[in-house]
Amino acid sequence: MRILGVESSCDETAAAIVEDGRKLLGSAIASSAEIHKQYGGVVPEIASRMHVESILPVLSETLKQAGLDWDAVDGIAVTHGPGLSGALLVGLSAAKALALSLQRPLLAVHHIASHIAANYLAFPELKPPFLCLVVSGGHSQLIRVDDYVQFSLLGTTRDDAAGEALDKVARALGLPYPGGPQLDALSQTGDRKSIRFPETRFADGSLDFSFSGVKTAALTWIQMQKQKAQRSGETQFPFSLEDFAAAYQEAVLRPLVRHAEQALESTKLQALVLAGGVSANSRLRELCAELAERKGVRLYCPPLQYCTDNAAMVASMGYYVQRHCPQGWGLQLDAIPQLSLIRYGEEIHARSQRHQNDC
Ligand code: KG4
Ligand code: ZN
Repeated sequence: MRILGVESSCDETAAAIVEDGRKLLGSAIASSAEIHKQYGGVVPEIASRMHVESILPVLSETLKQAGLDWDAVDGIAVTHGPGLSGALLVGLSAAKALALSLQRPLLAVHHIASHIAANYLAFPELKPPFLCLVVSGGHSQLIRVDDYVQFSLLGTTRDDAAGEALDKVARALGLPYPGGPQLDALSQTGDRKSIRFPETRFADGSLDFSFSGVKTAALTWIQMQKQKAQRSGETQFPFSLEDFAAAYQEAVLRPLVRHAEQALESTKLQALVLAGGVSANSRLRELCAELAERKGVRLYCPPLQYCTDNAAMVASMGYYVQRHCPQGWGLQLDAIPQLSLIRYGEEIHARSQRHQNDC
């Protein structure tokens, strides 16, 4: 079964063909990140326009890379949320046009479900159930992956996502967008104990996260350092950027790992899987490796090319969706910027039941 995946939820326009959910046959990706850099963050209108310009060349290139004709594709999987509305619509429109003209099922894919599925491409032995720590620019969640298309939410952020907290503080330091990888690089030689940042803990023992407190503390700290420098007539940032990066990054990552540990204890799951852009972070990987060793569980970290947005993960997820909903979705499938992962899983389950009843 060969599934073509299409991804356009943020600033990457991507397509890929994957066989049986696990084997990548061809892929292409165009990013507008360089343009967004000058604005310090993603500008939705620019992202949408760049998707329109890139989508057809990216699709052609994918087919060329795979050495296949359109006829060889058995289904069209597309991210329909969550993400930027205008950006999602570009990929969705292209996927609908392909599904209609090729007479293939249109398969709806949730962006976070696809980040999780990125691991199926890299680890053939990986099968649910497992615990997944999803950390990206827009999400920080602890998810019990019960089955390929069934998810339970154990914890989520109550305000900012971890990636967002890293990016916003990096921006205040004048580092280029996206700031997460910049902080990762700087922190390699920094002292993690040089500054103590606050950590939010919920009294009810919840596995939820909150990053707005630590982010605000870091932004205030930067502001104070700048004022101090101004008063003494200095032009340089009067503190080691490396130390700051290491200490702040540690404060953002610690709660993620602590809650993952609690979730492993309460669920007794035997595998911890990382997903999303921030899972590329070297310190997060180190902390999770220590955790996995302590708990005697397996750790799966996606290879770097599958951490950030790509379409191979969409095609992989599309394969598992297709197994439950072979008829696919109609052309009325909409872009849903705030799509919930749990509701998505329930929708697939309901469709699968209807399909079985019809057969
Ligand atoms: O998953 P992704 O591509 O986009 C969303 O779905 O949101 O993740 C992008 C996020 C950005 O916040 C970026 O700063 C972060 O992933 N990121 C990193 C690293 N590489 C990417 N954060 C920390 N360390 C990294 N090495
Ligand atoms: Zn993403």
